[in-house]
Amino acid sequence: MTQKIPTTNTKVIDWVNEIADLTEPEAVYWCDGSEAEIRAINDLLVENKTFIPLNPKKRPNSFLARSNPKDVARVEARTFICCRNKIDAGPTNNWAAPAQMKKRLHKLLKGCMKGRTMYVIPFSMGPLGSDIAQIGIEITDSPYVVANMRIMTRMGKKVWGVLKDGDFVKCLHSVGSPLKKGQKDVPWPCNPENTYITHFPETREIISFGSGYGGNALLGKKCLALRIASTMARDEGWLAEHMLIVGLENKKLHIKTYVTAAFPSACGKTNLAMLIPPKELSDWKVSTVGDDIAWLKPKNGRLYAINPEAGFFGVAPGTSAKTNRNAIESCRANTIFTNVALTDDGDVWWEGLTDEVPAHLIDWQGNDWTPQSPTPAAHPNSRFTAPASQCPIIDKDWENPAGVPIDAFIVGGRLATNAPLVYQSFNWQHGVYLASTMGSEKTAAAEGTAGEIRRDPMAMLPFCGYNMGDYWSHWLKLGARLAHKPLVFRVNWFRKDEQGHFMWPGFGQNMRVLEWIVKRTQGLAGATETAFGYSPAYRDLNWKGLQMSEEAFRALMHIDAELALKDVEAQALYYEPFQKEKRLSAALVSELTLLKSRLTLIRS
Ligand code: OXD
Ligand code: MN
Repeated sequence: MTQKIPTTNTKVIDWVNEIADLTEPEAVYWCDGSEAEIRAINDLLVENKTFIPLNPKKRPNSFLARSNPKDVARVEARTFICCRNKIDAGPTNNWAAPAQMKKRLHKLLKGCMKGRTMYVIPFSMGPLGSDIAQIGIEITDSPYVVANMRIMTRMGKKVWGVLKDGDFVKCLHSVGSPLKKGQKDVPWPCNPENTYITHFPETREIISFGSGYGGNALLGKKCLALRIASTMARDEGWLAEHMLIVGLENKKLHIKTYVTAAFPSACGKTNLAMLIPPKELSDWKVSTVGDDIAWLKPKNGRLYAINPEAGFFGVAPGTSAKTNRNAIESCRANTIFTNVALTDDGDVWWEGLTDEVPAHLIDWQGNDWTPQSPTPAAHPNSRFTAPASQCPIIDKDWENPAGVPIDAFIVGGRLATNAPLVYQSFNWQHGVYLASTMGSEKTAAAEGTAGEIRRDPMAMLPFCGYNMGDYWSHWLKLGARLAHKPLVFRVNWFRKDEQGHFMWPGFGQNMRVLEWIVKRTQGLAGATETAFGYSPAYRDLNWKGLQMSEEAFRALMHIDAELALKDVEAQALYYEPFQKEKRLSAALVSELTLLKSRLTLIRS
């Protein structure tokens, strides 16, 4: 069947023709986003054995996919920023010259879609037509990608009406596994030996080859919404951030506000975005706008945020009705599960889902599994792709094209020692410094020396599309121009005592910290000046329903000046490469100097 081309945009048509000539697919299909289309795609995926349909009584319209064991996560070592000058990619990114990388990719792309259908997916990151949104077109030879993009983005023919003859981000994806005539396909085609995830920020292009998994293949997510968008944001004066967005309302106090939070991957962003307050704090209503990415634009002196995504691509292990009931509800139907285990009655299971472990499962690699098996039933990076609209606490304004106004930025990592539960920066510049030095402690010896911090500035280490030093300067400049700057808070839910026990209960109890943060934004809560910033005293937090002594709280908030001074030295070393490249703002160096002098004064 020949399809009528659904757009008159010649830039789109020329590009699609160019890629079809290069990759030589068997057919080209223009996606319209309809129900009939997704039914046909799902049927095809079932036929190809990529999808296993789940028991419709337990998990309606949901599927399980098992990837190739060599294609299970984002591959940072194969991710490149290809800008003209190496220095513009900076010391934290892999760099390749655009012409050289294009040449290498051209060889790989030649004929790479043989025997496959090439899908053209028009999509919008952000509500269609929002002035904060961005249009992308993904060309892919993976129907699995089509099914996921339909959940994760606003995808379909409506995009053509918004795009008209405008520009778009070119997103080219191939699993890199052409089929010879008559060759039988495998359920998860990929090419791990030749994987490249490449970004061309100057021409707003993405080319991804060889992987079908997550952020490597769903190009709207990390590639467009963070790496390419961060360079657009630098050029146009806004922010593209690895942040959740959450609404916090207290009718008794007449407060409805929104805050964002940046934590490194796997530090509980989805949990915080969907938090359920403990019953003693039930005056607070929490609502989810986004769990992973925020685009923030200044208007009338403040920042407004949208969630550019339309779905959650959440890590499954550890997610349960106890840790995140709202995430569990979000994936109750219409969900794609990847690399989780299959139960004997056709449902899914992963480590931590239930206290009771099923006696028998099929693991993520398709093998029989029992609780005695030496390997986990679900891959640690197994995922659910679920529509955000299914989240029971989705915010009423989550699709508001104007975005939601942001009063606070929360940043933090996973630190066992000397990182207090919460403190507020002295000002915007100090806040940027706090975000630039955040990170998580390395835990296993294999990852480095235990206790050493892997810095993950703004949780953007793998996602910033340009020189990190320039990115910090961009934050400094943008904030300085805002009349109503978000207050910046650094948090750490993961401090441990000398016996190795967590000192803070976390999860829903984090509402107590959010309450203090929100009250600070409204001028309703006290704080004490410390060497690190403004910290809550015991009396400043709401303890209703939680037993924590003042002594235990002091331990949780304690600053060991000696240890902190050692970290100051480590931070100076961490800043060095940016300084050498002359890309480090003097403002950040001054913040480090000021911290050092405050700590020296309190050193006993
Ligand atoms: C993600 C990540 O998948 O940050 O969201 O790795
Ligand atoms: Mn993420």
